[in-house]
Amino acid sequence: MFKKFNHELVEKNAGLLGLLAIVAISFGTLVEITPQLFLSETNTPMKNMKPYTALQFEGRDIYIREGCVQCHSQMIRPFRHETERYGHYSLAGESVWDHPFLWGSKRTGPDLARVGGRYSDAWHVAHLNDPRAVVPESNMPGFPWLAQTTMDGELTAKKLSIFRDYFDVPYTDEDIAGAKDAVKGKTELDALIAYLQSLGTHLK
Ligand code: HEC
Repeated sequence: MFKKFNHELVEKNAGLLGLLAIVAISFGTLVEITPQLFLSETNTPMKNMKPYTALQFEGRDIYIREGCVQCHSQMIRPFRHETERYGHYSLAGESVWDHPFLWGSKRTGPDLARVGGRYSDAWHVAHLNDPRAVVPESNMPGFPWLAQTTMDGELTAKKLSIFRDYFDVPYTDEDIAGAKDAVKGKTELDALIAYLQSLGTHLK
């Protein structure tokens, strides 16, 4: 009798049903997410992890600008068919310094979380300039302008110091002082490849 009454009340009252659904979903979300924020496993960097060099850092910004994340994830899930293809599944500690993180959710192309060292720099030069030159069936667009654009590094030191001050990324004063020279005169392609070659190498 008690049970039936409550059920009817909720089923016949869309507003109440909606409200209770929101309460239930919010509770579930809080229970799932809140502990993650305080677990050391999810917010401590991997042992011996090094922050991106100035050049890799600029490469990451180019990766973001060019929208690579729209086609490539950087998140290997703990499933056998993924680890056999891409390597060890991704660990939270590997991306604690990534702001924003680039895990992505779309895989038009392969996951790139551990692409570092898989190909030579020369392969990347050819591939990014014209993917079909090295992978004939590829439908990845080419990014030929990257090789033609030289960087001045004017903002690099500022970017690194923001990451140090606000996100606790352990850049030293020397890293920041040398940032501009490390980037100046390099092409955007150099930076992007330096970044790609660093991906997923912390576990090795
Ligand atoms: C429209 C979707 C799309 C976009 C955008 C895209 N890619 Fe790709 N990418 C692919 C596809 C599909 C492949 C697989 C075929 C190939 O190797 O070209 C691929 C392959 C790759 C590979 C080789 C991965 C491997 O393990 O073999 C790298 C590295 C790569 N892309 C980097 C990039 C970078 C860097 C960008 C941004 C500058 C980018 N991609 C943008 C679709 C895309």
